[in-house]
Amino acid sequence: MKEKFYITTAIPYCSGKPHIGNTYEVILTDCIARYKRQKGYDVFFLTGTDEHGIKIENKAKELGISPKEFVDGVYEKVKGIWSLVGASYDKFIRTTDDYHEKAVAGIFTKLLEQGDIYKGQYEGWYCVPCESFFTDTQIKDGKCPDCGRPVQKAKEDAYFFRMSKYADRLLRHIEENPGFVEPEARLKEMVNNFLRPGLQDLCVTRNSFTWGVPVPGDEKQVIYVWIDALSNYITALGYTVDEQGELFKKYWPCDVHVIGKDIVRFHTIYWPIMLLALGLPLPKKIYGHGWLNFGTDKMSKSKGNVMYADDLVSLFGVDGVRHYTLSAMPYSTDGSITYESMISAYNTDLANNLGNLVSRTLSMNKKYFDGVVQSPDVPGESDDKLKATVAECTAKVGELMDTYHVSDALGKIFEMLSAANKYIDENCPWTLAKDPELSGRLGTVLYNLLETIRVGASLLTPFMPETSAKILSLLGTDDLSEKFGRLVPGTHTSAGEVLFKRIDEKEFFEKLADKISEKENNGDAKMEEAVKENVQATENANAETKEKEYEPLCPEIEFDDFIKPDMRVAKVLECEPMPKSKKLLKLQLDLGFEKRQVLSGIAKYYKPEDLIGKKVIIVANLKPRMMCGEESKGMVLASGGHEPDAVVRVLFAAEDAVVGDRVG
Ligand code: MSP
Repeated sequence: MKEKFYITTAIPYCSGKPHIGNTYEVILTDCIARYKRQKGYDVFFLTGTDEHGIKIENKAKELGISPKEFVDGVYEKVKGIWSLVGASYDKFIRTTDDYHEKAVAGIFTKLLEQGDIYKGQYEGWYCVPCESFFTDTQIKDGKCPDCGRPVQKAKEDAYFFRMSKYADRLLRHIEENPGFVEPEARLKEMVNNFLRPGLQDLCVTRNSFTWGVPVPGDEKQVIYVWIDALSNYITALGYTVDEQGELFKKYWPCDVHVIGKDIVRFHTIYWPIMLLALGLPLPKKIYGHGWLNFGTDKMSKSKGNVMYADDLVSLFGVDGVRHYTLSAMPYSTDGSITYESMISAYNTDLANNLGNLVSRTLSMNKKYFDGVVQSPDVPGESDDKLKATVAECTAKVGELMDTYHVSDALGKIFEMLSAANKYIDENCPWTLAKDPELSGRLGTVLYNLLETIRVGASLLTPFMPETSAKILSLLGTDDLSEKFGRLVPGTHTSAGEVLFKRIDEKEFFEKLADKISEKENNGDAKMEEAVKENVQATENANAETKEKEYEPLCPEIEFDDFIKPDMRVAKVLECEPMPKSKKLLKLQLDLGFEKRQVLSGIAKYYKPEDLIGKKVIIVANLKPRMMCGEESKGMVLASGGHEPDAVVRVLFAAEDAVVGDRVG
C-alpha cells in the first residue's frame, strides 16, 4: 500500500485578489505535493479560502452587497489564480461551506461542554482590523502590537479557551518532536516569547460583527475567525466531533502545514492546543516560509507595489512564474521579486541554460541522426563526470525536497543542466560530425545529453510541470525515472520548438506600460470594483428600469474624526497626462505654504487645460503613495468616483478662496 502524505496551504482571507506572495505559497505546496506523488506517495493536497470576519463584512458593506456575494466573487478569483499557476490540489475548502460551519459549531460545543471553553467578560483593548484583544501590557504606545493601528477600549461578554491547561503538554510535545516546526528559529521564537512566559486564556468569540459561525445557543456571538479557519484542516477531511470519516482516518495527522512566517503562532500554539483538547494527534510538521517582498519592501496596496500572478503569467508564462518564485524564496528567509530580477532569472536559467541545452541537443540529433536516438557505444573521457554529476544532483535534489529546501533543490537541477551545457562545449559535437569515423562517438555524446535532459525534465516536473511534459514529448518518452540510461536507442526525437525566448528588457517595459494602461481602462485594477461590477451587472440585467441607487451613508462619526482629514484650497499650477496611464492626470499644486504633486484619476473627465489656473480642494495630510512610478501627495476631492458609470466632477473652490486655507 502507498504511504500517505497530507499537505495543506494556509487558507487566504477572501478579502481581495491574492497577490504573488499568497500565490507563492500555493505554488510551493503544489511543488512538494507533485514531488511526493512522483515518489509514489498517496497525496492529499488541501487548500481553500478563509471567508468570515469583520474585514469581509465591512468590505461588503462598503460595496453595498452581502458578505456572501462578496466572498463568492473573491473565491472565484482565488480559484482562477490557483488553477492558472497549476495548483494540483485534491480539495478546495471554503469556510462558508455548510459542512464546515456545522463541524466548527460542533467543535465549539464539545470544548464548551468539557470545560475547555468558558464564558466570561473581556476587558481590555481591541484592534478592529486584526480582530484581536490585547491587555494593557501587550499594547504598544496605545497601538496594536501586530499592525500598529490604534486600539479601542473593550468590555464585553465573551468565551475563553483555557490555553494554559495544555501549555505543558505542548511544550513536552515540542521537545520530544524535533522538527515539529521549521525553520528552527521560528520555533524558538514561539517557545521563548509565548509558551515559556505562560499562555493567557484566548478570547474565542466576537460580538462586534455577525459574519461568522454563530456560537451555538448564544447567537449574539460569533466564533473567532482563527478557531473557524484552523479547523478547516480537519473538517475538509470529513471530521466532526461525532464522526471522523474515512478521509480523516486515512490522512490525519497532517504531514506538513505550509504557512507564512506571520501565522506561525496560530499554527504552533493555538492549533495544537485545540487538537490536544479534542483528543486528536498533532500535525507532524509546520513549515513557516518567509515572505516574498517587492525588492526589500513589503508588498502593500498603499505603496502601490503589489504584483499579481495573472499579470506575471501573461508576461513570463506559468512556468516562468513558478520557476522564479520557487527559486527566489530561500528556505528560511525572505525572498525578493522585481521585474528586473525576474527578467534576469528567466534569461539566465530558462532561456540560456535550459532552453539552449534542449534546443541545441535536439537540433543536433535531428541534423546528424534524423532525430533517432543512438546507442551509447563509444564512451569518452568526460562521460563519467557528467554521469556522476547527474547521479549526485539527483540524490541531492531528493534530500533537499524531503526537507522542504525547495529553492536549493531547484538550484541543484540547474547546476546539472549547466554541466550538460559544458559537456557540449567539451565534446564539440559539430567537430565530431565532420568525421564519419567518429559517428559512434557523436551518437554517444548526443545520447548522454538527451539522457541528462530526460533526467532533468523528470526532476523539474514538480517545479515546472508544463515545460517538463513538453521536453519529454520532444524526447519521445514519458519515462520519469531518474536513473541514467533509460532512454531507448531508436526513439524518435523532435526539434524546432523554442521553449523560452530571451526577454529584451526595453521591449518588456514597453509592453508592461501598455498592460498597465489597458488594465486601468478596463477598470479591473481593484478587485472590489470588479466584484461590485459583477453584482451590479447581474442586478441591472434583472431589473428592467432601475432608479439610481445611492451609496448607503457611512456610520455616524464624532467631530474629532471629522477633523482628521486636513483639507486645503490649492491652485493648479501645471497639469499633464501621465505617460503610463490613461486614467491619471499629474497636477502640480500651490498650497501657499508649499508646492506639491498630486495624481488624480480624472483623465477620463477633464483635460489639463480645464484645470490649470483653477482652485481645487485636496486632502493634504493623506499618506503619500506611488502610482505608476510617480509620487502623489494628497487627493483632489471630486464627486461620483465610486460608481461604475460615474459622472466624476471635481469640487472646485470659489475663485476668491484663499490658497492654503483649511476647508471644513
Ligand atoms: N486566513 C489566514 C490563514 C488561515 S490558515 C488556517 C491568513 N490569510 S492571508 O491571506 O493573510 O495569508 C495567506 C498566506 O499567505 C499566509 O500563509 C501568509 O503568511 C502568506 N503570505 C502573505 N503575504 C505573503 C508574502 N508577501 N509572501 C509569502 N507569503 C505571504 O493569514
